[in-house]
Amino acid sequence: MNAAVDSKVYKENRLKAGLLPDYMPEHVAVIMDGNGRWAKKQGFLTRIKGHEVGVDALRKITTASAELGLNYLTVYAFSTENWNRPKAEVDALMNILMGALEKELPILLANNVKLKAIGNIHALPSKANKKLMSVMDATSGNDGLTLTLALSYGSQEELVHAFRKVAAEVAAGTLKPEEISEDHIERNLFTAGMPNPDLLIRTSGEQRISNYLLWQLAYAEFYFTPVLWPDFDADGFYEAIATFQKRERRFGQTSEQLTAK
Ligand code: IPE
Ligand code: IPE
Ligand code: MG
Repeated sequence: MNAAVDSKVYKENRLKAGLLPDYMPEHVAVIMDGNGRWAKKQGFLTRIKGHEVGVDALRKITTASAELGLNYLTVYAFSTENWNRPKAEVDALMNILMGALEKELPILLANNVKLKAIGNIHALPSKANKKLMSVMDATSGNDGLTLTLALSYGSQEELVHAFRKVAAEVAAGTLKPEEISEDHIERNLFTAGMPNPDLLIRTSGEQRISNYLLWQLAYAEFYFTPVLWPDFDADGFYEAIATFQKRERRFGQTSEQLTAK
């Protein structure tokens, strides 16, 4: 499919979803929260079923994003702090991750999705790490949506890592402290090369950032919904984007300045 046909299809899909076709976020970030509460509410004995059904929700949102022609979808799948959960839950999450990578590969390929990861992925069990690498490799030629999994991700850790790299350049004498710019920091983040998210969605009613993309969300619009992640679907996603489309992003300017343009 060539780009022109593609964009016509995307516009039709956006209209069908009740969205303005020409004012779309380029990058949507999601904190997929509420799996454990969902499982409890459904009467399951453990939280694990919530994580399993959470994979189905992620597939729905990924497919919806690809159909709308979004460029980037970045989802918080496992935080550095989540390592502190009971071992049984961490082990189950790693198994679910491996199973999902295996099962979803054909769907990623069919939707022209490129898979990426941010975070300390070396901390993952080696089997999960290998599987992740192989799926990233298998989808590396896709040029549609980039789906980024934040895995063993913590934004403060990411910033420390970036600052260390910049400090090393200063120590080596190749960079002067007064030359350090925002660009230098950005280039050393895991998200280097990606635009910052325009919209952050967090499910489950919590209204906090939980160490996610602290630098990158500087000017994102925030959307919180009480829906628990396993219940989140394409319609909920369209609603979040529709809300985004009604916001005025001023980036520090006045409303009058923007309307004068
Ligand atoms: C989000 O759901 C998934 C991960 C953090 C891995 P939770 O597991 O945090 O579910 P709740 O928030 O306890 O309901
Ligand atoms: C954030 O959710 C991490 C993920 C969704 C992967 P948490 O459930 O871990 O965050 P807190 O503990 O409620 O802040
Ligand atoms: Mg949670």
